[in-house]
Amino acid sequence: MNKKTVLVTRKIPNVSPLTSEAELEVFMGQERPPTREELLTGIKGVSAVISLLTEKMDGEVMDAAGESLKIIANYAVGYDNIDIEEATKRGIIVTNTPGKVEAVAEHALALCLTLGKNIIKEDKFVRNGDYKFWNPNIFISPYLKNRTLGIIGAGRIGAHLAEIGHSIFKEILYTDVKENREIENRFGAKKVSLENLARESDFVSIHTVLNDKTRHMINADVLSKMKKTAYIINTSRGGVIDESALVDALSDGVIAGAGLDVFENEPKVHKKLMLLDNVILTPHVASATDASRAEMSDIAIENVMGILFEGKIPASVVNRDVIGKSRVESLVRSGDVSSRAKLYTSLF
Ligand code: DGY
Repeated sequence: MNKKTVLVTRKIPNVSPLTSEAELEVFMGQERPPTREELLTGIKGVSAVISLLTEKMDGEVMDAAGESLKIIANYAVGYDNIDIEEATKRGIIVTNTPGKVEAVAEHALALCLTLGKNIIKEDKFVRNGDYKFWNPNIFISPYLKNRTLGIIGAGRIGAHLAEIGHSIFKEILYTDVKENREIENRFGAKKVSLENLARESDFVSIHTVLNDKTRHMINADVLSKMKKTAYIINTSRGGVIDESALVDALSDGVIAGAGLDVFENEPKVHKKLMLLDNVILTPHVASATDASRAEMSDIAIENVMGILFEGKIPASVVNRDVIGKSRVESLVRSGDVSSRAKLYTSLF
């Protein structure tokens, strides 16, 4: 039987384990995302895709791949770049990589501290030659032991922020559809409404997925409820914040500042954000640690191997509705599978 082709849309670490089982087609050596045309052409006839959040995986792309496409293994925790409904309709399994996501919480905390402690402005001050004598009246920053951290979304990332934040901040508030008893019991976190979190927090950090319910969850109304001295941090997805409303709030002194790792129209950044000095901008790197990138590859590869060769349903299937009507099942029925993959019959 011919080897199955797996398309990896960008160079990522540790993809070699796939090569013994599958023909690997990587946009090798390219540090940039494929263009839409490259994706539509390159995906033709592949059995699996390891996609990145820069690839819009919609119905057109899925159809360009054809019936052979069994799994889209997204190389990210977030999967808002994939049209889940269209994938499910076509029986394509979609997975994500919920690996060492705690790294994102580390970056969020770094943004809180850098903003709150004025680090960027202080660095500029020294480099500009403005440090002429010691002055007890400059760069007065909040004493974090007296301040409240508000966490929007208490999943693994938000919970880790509660863990590392609780030894720094006075109080941890969180908002989520579900209660997180563990952070309540271990770190004294209190579940509150979004409105109360906005009113009471000195630092608000966002850790929710982007979907129709969370898009523009942080809008002019929520921003207006925040303290003038408060900071907002976003390491989740840009669309959770209404970026124009944020620009206005930052320009008009409605809030003190923002730390943004993600943007509404990435990689484009709102022009006005670029001009504001109360904002720290980072290029969507919150999860960029050596451990998390390697683990993301391992998970994506395991997911592909599981579906194509091992008869295993990956733990991180995000469209669970597809199980039972996936293309893998019909493949089993048509007999076009290796003996190991026949295991699917009992799994789906
Ligand atoms: C994720 O995993 O969703 C990050 O945003 C990209 O690494």
